[in-house]
Amino acid sequence: MAGCGGSDSQNTVCTGTEQAPKRLFLQQLTENSVIIKWRGDATIACIGTDISKLGIRVEAVATEGDHKEAKFTGLKPDTAYYYSLGGALTAPTSQFFKTAPASAYPVDDGNVRIWVLGDSGTAGYIENTSDKTKYSGIAEAVRQGMQNFTNADKQKIDLLLMLGDNAYNNGSDINYQAGLFDIYKSELKNVALWPTIGNHEMGLGSFATSATTVIQTGGVSTSPDPKTYKDTANASTSLMPYLNIFSLPKAVEAGGIPSGTKQYYSFNYGKVHIVSLDSQLTARDTVQRGIMKDWLVKDLQAATTTADWIVVIFHHPPYSKGANHDSDSDGLTVSSIDKPQIDMRNDFVPVFQNYGVDLVLNGHSHSYERSYYLKNLYAGAGSVTNGNSTEFIANAHTFGPLFSGRTAHGEEYTETDGNVVYAVAGNGGKADSDAGSMRVAGEWLNHMAHVLQPFWQFVSTQISGTSKSGQNHKNGLAVPGSMLIDANKNRLDVRFLNTKGETLDQFAIKKK
Ligand SMILES: [Fe+2]
Ligand SMILES: [Fe+2]
Repeated sequence: MAGCGGSDSQNTVCTGTEQAPKRLFLQQLTENSVIIKWRGDATIACIGTDISKLGIRVEAVATEGDHKEAKFTGLKPDTAYYYSLGGALTAPTSQFFKTAPASAYPVDDGNVRIWVLGDSGTAGYIENTSDKTKYSGIAEAVRQGMQNFTNADKQKIDLLLMLGDNAYNNGSDINYQAGLFDIYKSELKNVALWPTIGNHEMGLGSFATSATTVIQTGGVSTSPDPKTYKDTANASTSLMPYLNIFSLPKAVEAGGIPSGTKQYYSFNYGKVHIVSLDSQLTARDTVQRGIMKDWLVKDLQAATTTADWIVVIFHHPPYSKGANHDSDSDGLTVSSIDKPQIDMRNDFVPVFQNYGVDLVLNGHSHSYERSYYLKNLYAGAGSVTNGNSTEFIANAHTFGPLFSGRTAHGEEYTETDGNVVYAVAGNGGKADSDAGSMRVAGEWLNHMAHVLQPFWQFVSTQISGTSKSGQNHKNGLAVPGSMLIDANKNRLDVRFLNTKGETLDQFAIKKK
């Protein structure tokens, strides 16, 4: 591309000095384009395929939240590029990325590898020193687990998904700095992050601690309007930092069909189609939720004709018996914090089933739970127990001959129309060690949609604290960790990794 002319903002002069940014991350990485985004003094970014002869230069645009963005277009697919900030001819060795493969899979390994982190932002608890201390080092340990695994099998991650609650406690800019940018520095420089909105992205809300006391705290907002964000009790309203920080596609910048909003979007990475829904704001308003659903149907209709795999992410799990976050009403009043779990199940599960979704990933519950390859489970566990379930298909699963060593399960599901696997992995920055205030005692990590986890007993010895339900967490894992997805033409392999990088759960969906 060097010397090929181009627009006024794109030329071949890279003669400056590297200027270190305060934060640096990649957005909208596609097969032929990327946005390099940072906060700092540099006003220029240069890229190139030769680390010491960067030849493509773009003047940055200043964007919301004191960020700068340089968008590069016309890149070659499946190609490694290096980059500098400030106009330097030579890139620091840590600053590189690889473009997405052209409508297929990477040529070097034939495999799209996706790292999935939920509720990882616990290092952002800077205003609350006791929570900061309590969760200190967990996000880093989860990251180390992923690195142990990927170093061992010598295959890097290609992209990163975040399932919400990315920056405790309020999703403020300083929470994001401490909980995201300071923790995942190397990953954010090398692969694009695609997030979704959790309840802790929406700043402070009113929470009644007793009949007479209402406090302002993070994670409890039920507003559908991002302009009602506030991160100090007396602040005037402002746009939520999430929307200032992330450059998300609303007009087909990276595939899919236009959503018209940054709150939910879709994109392609090779033959994997990924949808990020907004279960925190959009889902709170019936009309907006309907618009999101209509968009999703159209998006999936288009994607099923081109994508090998469809993965959907959003924060509030349709099926979960996590501590404090129960997806099922069981005849009791559902908390306003958790209402989106039920709304998303009732409104969106039929769409996932009817339009070819393979895998749904959620956070919110700070534990790992993973469903059978299931269909038509709308009611909660209580209703199912009472015989009100419509249809529940659980493919046979066996314990382990497929995978050796300390590896759980190993079911191989053959792709079947209408069946979907739902996984909850809100344990990227903390793992709840007891049931908390479950509305029904004894149900912690015991949802009938979820498979029994053979290592529940093994990991129960690793957690501290007293279980209110007597260590009754057989259908989930109460340890920190993250998920790793490997997509290729014939298989979607999915793992849950602990902080050592051991695979504690694994399954695959195979093409017919
Ligand atoms: Fe959370
Ligand atoms: Fe949450």
